[in-house]
Amino acid sequence: MSTSQASVEAVKPAIKPLRVGIIGFGTVGGGTLSVLQRNQEEIQRRLGRPIVVTDVANRRIEKINVLKNEGIRIHSDALAVARHPDVDVVIEVMGGTTLAKEVVLTAIAEGKSVVTANKALLALHGQEIFNAAKQAGVHIGFEAAVAGGIPILKVLREGLTANRIEWLAGIINGTSNFILSEMRSKGLDFATVLAEAQRLGYAEADPTFDVEGIDAAHKLSLLSAMAFGSPIQFDKIHTEGIRALQSVDIRYAESLGYRVKLLGLTRRTPKGIELRVHPALVPANCLLAQVDGAKNAILVQGDAVGPTLYVGAGAGAEPTASAVVADIIDIGRYLSEAPHKAPTAAPLAFNEQKEVAVLPMSEVETSFYLRFPVTDRPGVVAELSRILAEHNVSLSALLQKPGQESGGIVDIIVLTHCVKESAVHAALAEIEDLAAVHQPVIRLHVETLGG
Ligand code: NAP
Ligand code: HSE
Repeated sequence: MSTSQASVEAVKPAIKPLRVGIIGFGTVGGGTLSVLQRNQEEIQRRLGRPIVVTDVANRRIEKINVLKNEGIRIHSDALAVARHPDVDVVIEVMGGTTLAKEVVLTAIAEGKSVVTANKALLALHGQEIFNAAKQAGVHIGFEAAVAGGIPILKVLREGLTANRIEWLAGIINGTSNFILSEMRSKGLDFATVLAEAQRLGYAEADPTFDVEGIDAAHKLSLLSAMAFGSPIQFDKIHTEGIRALQSVDIRYAESLGYRVKLLGLTRRTPKGIELRVHPALVPANCLLAQVDGAKNAILVQGDAVGPTLYVGAGAGAEPTASAVVADIIDIGRYLSEAPHKAPTAAPLAFNEQKEVAVLPMSEVETSFYLRFPVTDRPGVVAELSRILAEHNVSLSALLQKPGQESGGIVDIIVLTHCVKESAVHAALAEIEDLAAVHQPVIRLHVETLGG
């Protein structure tokens, strides 16, 4: 080494680590620290500088006492981390929407970029948070908020950025997918499998958000905004869960060549975008139908690339941490490249956003699965067919299981061609008044997913 090279080396500043504060040391917070520590060499090589966790906050401080031995400052006050002058990036993984919002907005006001896994927070307050971040010139990473470890936001933002996204449909709640998979493969009813999901730790103690489709709707609101450049419109999503689903319908669906999945679906149509979460029959031979257990999967239709499918773990400590840490690294890259430059269009969030009308559910056109519990007597099928025909509902299949006694109650199953939801509702209102038809008539959407 020459003398001049040696003196350049001597004056080179030490590499400054990226300093991270984690708020909430539960499943995802713990996973994030583990991944950052275990893969620190790889991460430093990729980012060009180390990432160091300097601060951790948790409600019960005793849970994080041990971190002091690693030189990490510990706090019971979440806001102390959001405000700490020695923290560059705040990781919000405590959940909830009240204090979490305050924490995120405080960090932004302090000029810190934020990574969050909190889909509920962003579905409800995302617009305000992203606007504040843009004004403050900081980044919000939220890959972990949608489909856990699957990097679907990066796919939409980067890999498919050349495409006009036509639609996307996904299994984006692992708990519901586990329940539906078990109901199908073991023939168990909803309540039995839900109890099993809770025992295995898939479902929350209060599983309402999972089984009522609300968690999937939170995620869909973010996916749709990313795909179509529209605002986050959680309140406009049509949301149905799986609680009312009966195993008999899963069995009938199977005998007709379909599987039942809880889908989050958003589609561009000339009259607006569809935004809906509900159980649906999907053809058993399509790849999405074969994604079982607690896994997530998202099928994206781009105009140039056609259909592409992304499958993986939608939850869990390290799969979710994988997405959290990827966002920290991306933010570290932006900060290293342009430390003082405000992002003109928050690179991790949405670029241009424009109002896009949401198609009312009554206008949505799909095929339907209908199950009519009826008295088994002559002329009932003719009555059903007449009313469906009067509402322009055209049938593609009709099934009655043989061997049931005349005069008893039997199930008539019908699959329709593609038809407006409003037409099916009008027909069902008339059919439910027939003396031979017993309640309730079951109505499920059928989605061919481009097949
Ligand atoms: P978790 O296991 O319940 O952990 C949450 C942690 O935050 C707990 O350690 C809790 O402390 C702490 N906390 C709660 N309120 C706090 C407060 N006011 N101040 C400081 N700490 C507080 O939850 P999680 O599963 O990790 O989920 C965290 C976030 O990630 C949620 O928004 C969730 O929706 C999202 N997410 C989770 C997953 C997943 O697989 N788990 C996947 C994707 C996204 P205490 O234990 O002392 O109460
Ligand atoms: N409760 C969620 C699920 C976990 O079951 O998919 C992560 O979003």
